[in-house]
Amino acid sequence: MIEFKNVTKVYEDGTEAIKGIDLTIPEGKLVALIGPSGCGKTTTMKMINKLITPSSGSIFINGKDISNQDEVELRRNIGYVIQRIGLLPHMTIEDNISLIPKLKGWKKDQYENRVDELLNLVGLEPHIFRKRYPLELSGGQQQRVGVIRALAAEPPIILMDEPFSALDPISREQLQDELKGIQNTIHKTIIFVTHDIDEALKIADEIAVMKDGKIEQIATPNELLSAPANDFVRSFIGEERLKGQKSRICVSDIMENNTNYILYNETEYEIIPYDASISDAAHLLVTSDKPYLLVIRNEKSIGSVTRTGVLRAVASEGRKEAQSTS
Ligand SMILES: Nc1ncnc2c1ncn2[C@@H]1O[C@H](COP(=O)(O)OP(=O)(O)OP(=O)(O)O)[C@@H](O)[C@H]1O
Ligand SMILES: [Mg+2]
Repeated sequence: MIEFKNVTKVYEDGTEAIKGIDLTIPEGKLVALIGPSGCGKTTTMKMINKLITPSSGSIFINGKDISNQDEVELRRNIGYVIQRIGLLPHMTIEDNISLIPKLKGWKKDQYENRVDELLNLVGLEPHIFRKRYPLELSGGQQQRVGVIRALAAEPPIILMDEPFSALDPISREQLQDELKGIQNTIHKTIIFVTHDIDEALKIADEIAVMKDGKIEQIATPNELLSAPANDFVRSFIGEERLKGQKSRICVSDIMENNTNYILYNETEYEIIPYDASISDAAHLLVTSDKPYLLVIRNEKSIGSVTRTGVLRAVASEGRKEAQSTS
């Protein structure tokens, strides 16, 4: 877990880049930082691996204040994908990826296997790409290597500063899907900076919307869409996305607050997050073949939904959609 407590950053020329932020990034979650150019995203990120020192306030990683931790040691446990890829041009792809594992003392066959495994993970054939130099790869391929290099030594924390910004829309979508897939299996704590709200909505567990050195709102994608905190957040999300959201019913809208009757019978239910859509709920009921779903928020059960309740909601949403398009 990463915690910012009342952190500010004033650069030497007097620029107030960060004006007091409190931010908690839970372990194993992907949190997106989003906001207009110059709002302080990169500054926030670089304070985590001590490339920038806060002017006041504190940052804790797993409860320990980082201000008195050795920065070299700290950085070995934090993967970092910078905006402009940052591969070392005079080193082969293989050497770029295995740099940190080697520094950490991994054995040769261990890091060689890791290089192949990671290249395969992002669809780059190891026997073709291992020995190439960064300039012998396309921009998108270099960006893939930038991403897997940050994963190479299995750091618990990964910082990604607009890692997909230079990609065409198709490769970008593909890498977003790949990152989501990877994250579903490795569950790292990832801070992901982006300008692109659709990217954030797609891949993040939580989104922090920043403006002018402050955090305007931090929420799950569904919360952000259903309850933007203010006009800035609304306009940042865009009316179109908000409109699309209006008719969308979440599990928590149709749940009953009573959970006792199902908690006694573990084989009768699956769990579902409170902000999942009813179509997710329907899908889960069908695939699991269970009569109930237990609704979870912040790791606590807050209610339940029945198969009938979900069916009813799906049907009424379908009717509304039919009316609005006819
Ligand atoms: N070394 C520096 N000295 C003075 N001001 C700086 C320095 N680095 C950044 N700034 C200023 O701090 C503010 C925040 O910069 P930062 O790089 O964190 O923004 P950002 O949100 O990452 O923007 P972008 O989306 O354009 O990358 C900006 O006003 C920027 O000009
Ligand atoms: Mg930046």
